[in-house]
This record gives sequence, structure tokens and C-alpha cells, in this order.
Amino acid sequence: MPQPKASVAAALPQLGVEGLVALGLARAESETVTPTALLRPQSFVDADGVGEWWIASDLDEVALDGALPADHVLGVGGASRTLAETIVPIEVDRALDLGTGCGIQALLVARRARTVVATDISSRALAFAELNARLNGVSNIEFRHGSMFEPVAGEAFDLIVSNPPFVITPRVEGVPAYEYRDGGLVGDALVEQFVRSAPRFLTQNGIAQLLGNWESDAAVAGLARLEAWVPADLDLWVIQREELSPSRMPSCGSATAAPHRAIPPSPRCSPPGSTTSRRAE
Ligand SMILES: C[S@@+](CC[C@H](N)C(=O)[O-])C[C@H]1O[C@@H](n2cnc3c(N)ncnc32)[C@H](O)[C@@H]1O
Repeated sequence: MPQPKASVAAALPQLGVEGLVALGLARAESETVTPTALLRPQSFVDADGVGEWWIASDLDEVALDGALPADHVLGVGGASRTLAETIVPIEVDRALDLGTGCGIQALLVARRARTVVATDISSRALAFAELNARLNGVSNIEFRHGSMFEPVAGEAFDLIVSNPPFVITPRVEGVPAYEYRDGGLVGDALVEQFVRSAPRFLTQNGIAQLLGNWESDAAVAGLARLEAWVPADLDLWVIQREELSPSRMPSCGSATAAPHRAIPPSPRCSPPGSTTSRRAE
């Protein structure tokens, strides 16, 4: 919603309208200033108590009044919160947030890690994530551009977290490759790539946690496929929240049990599953 230039200048006496535009957070016309990003308070709770961050992200569908562009940078949503609430609260030396988006998971693990590497295929997402780290006075996150584990080749982490673009999307003409949603890959290929690769980037006793969707077909159940992607020397803990037919993919439904150790499924409306793998001694 456009605002009078004089009001914006009065509200931001140090930054000014020019500063806001230079940061890419607004567009100025002759008499008005139109925001190009959202800035929202985001509360969190961890072992140290309740806290609050300011999180910048792209304008959402309501603000845009239309479809999101393919390079949209999401704010903190239901999936972000689901992963954030399940991240193992351990002190670690090095952590990785793969597909950091607005940086919410990296901010969270930065409270328990000496250093965090936050990666994304989107330069736009990394810019938002870096802005959010600065806005919230967090200085132990390093931002790196690239796909999947490429930016951290040869490195190892005690904790890897990821809320990757796991939505299973038909790759047909006219369906854009949304960076935040499906990463342009087919079926559950991105989740498979993550689960197969993550063990090589874990320290001894390291833990990788991700949210994901996996496909079942008539011959092989999704959980069996997932289990086959993980080497036998790793512990695997899967929470399968629900099974959906393709026509019901966007909705929330019932849950089923896990293959190794079953724990109660999350009652929240969130993506169908999350997995944790741990490199055993
Ligand atoms: C669903 S968003 C998650 C954002 C944030 N981590 C959260 O929890 O809210 C997925 C992110 O993964 C990024 N991404 C997509 N494909 C990727 C790839 N091949 N490698 C790394 N990041 C990727 C997207 O740009 C997007 O920022």
C-alpha cells in the first residue's frame, strides 16, 4: 500500500526514503513510497526463554494481490515453524542451514552453534537472510550461494537443518519452477538428493534434520524408498505425518507410523514428513 513520502521520511529520519529505496525495500514515486518487502516481528522460544526477531521477506500474495513470482522469498510459515520447533536443542561447533530463505532456521541454530553456514540457490534469499541477521544483531552466520551441498564441498557439520523446496509438483508446460516450493526438480528428487548426500557432510555423531515429501508407488512404499536412501551405519528417525493421494497433496490429513522408532505425529498442519539422520559412532 503506497504511503505519502513525507510520512515515510518522518518515520525513518536516519535512513530516509532514499536509504529505503537503496536497500531495495521500497519504490519511490513522486509523492508516494511503495513497500517492496515485508518486515514482521517473529517470536520464538528456546531453552533461554522467549525472544523476538524482526524478519524481512518478500511481499506475500495478499500484499501483491496476485500470484507469487518464481524467485519469491518466503517469510516464516507453517513449515518453517514445524522445523524450527523440532530442531534438536544441542550446543554444536558448526551448523549448516541448507536453503535458508529468509534465514529463520539459521538464526535459530546460531543461538546454539559457534558458527553457522547458511546456503541458498537464490541470491535474493541470501540477501534477505543476511539483512535479517544484521537486523537482529546475529554475527556468527556465513552466507554462501549455490545449489544443495555444492557451497560446502569437503566440509562437515555437527548439525544440518533444511526446510527444502520439497513440494511434489508436476513438471508440465506452464507450471513455473518455484525456487521456494519445488526447486524445479521432478517428484521427490530434491529430498532424495538431500537424504543421500547429507551423511557425507556430517561429523561423527552429527545430526541432519529436514522436512520433506516422498512418493509411494504401487510397487514400493514411500518409507521403504526413504530408508533405502540412508546408509546402514546411520540411525534414521522418520515422522510420517500423513499419506496423501496426488489429488489431495495441498491439504492436511491423517498420519501413519514411522519405520524405525515411531513417535506420535505432529498435530500441526504442516508438510507430510520430517526425518532426522544421525551418524553413529
Ligand atoms: C521452503 S523455502 C525454506 C526457507 C527457510 N529455510 C524456512 O525454513 O522458512 C526453501 C528454500 O530453498 C531454496 N532452494 C531451492 N532450491 C535449492 C537448491 N537446489 N539448493 C539450495 N537451496 C535451494 C529456495 O530458494 C528457498 O529459499
